[in-house]
Amino acid sequence: MALDRAALLDAMRRQLSRESAAHSERVAVMARRIAESYGLDAEEAYVAGLLHDWSRDADGQSLLAEARLLGIPVSEIDERVPYLLHAPVGARLVKREFPQLSQSVVDAISVHTCGAPEMSDLAMAVFVADSVEPGRTHASAAVLRAAIGALPLRELFVRTYADGLRHLIEKRRPMHPQTLKTWNWLADDRVA
Ligand SMILES: [Fe+2]
Repeated sequence: MALDRAALLDAMRRQLSRESAAHSERVAVMARRIAESYGLDAEEAYVAGLLHDWSRDADGQSLLAEARLLGIPVSEIDERVPYLLHAPVGARLVKREFPQLSQSVVDAISVHTCGAPEMSDLAMAVFVADSVEPGRTHASAAVLRAAIGALPLRELFVRTYADGLRHLIEKRRPMHPQTLKTWNWLADDRVA
């Protein structure tokens, strides 16, 4: 992936608010650390982390309009919570901006809010990094951070995902159909 990291960093800082840019840099560093712990491509993880929130600061109406323009499926939940579209919309826009990006980086960006069945290890690393970067101060983030490298990546991801689901339910937020699909892919079939 012949990409100039300084140029990417610069473009990302111009695209995002100061707060979102700082978060993205922390996610990039954390994604690289997770990738190194699990033998994944550390540079791809860093770049995916850096660009994962490319469309994070767009307002809901623009995200809906952009999604429709790009042919991204828009569900009833996307209409209620258009913020979730920042992942698939952002992925399409970064690919347009940086055509050299590998598809694995673009896919990791695309699924960083809801996940996806059969998502890659790289996508799991970026998802976990987004949830546990040092700016995330809730107690469970510290527990998950401490588990990096100690648990298999899939188990680390399942715990991170379950934590996000608990939060979703506690806050009475709607659940995206993609989230349900991802959870059913992760869930055990046996009854405890
Ligand atoms: Fe995001």
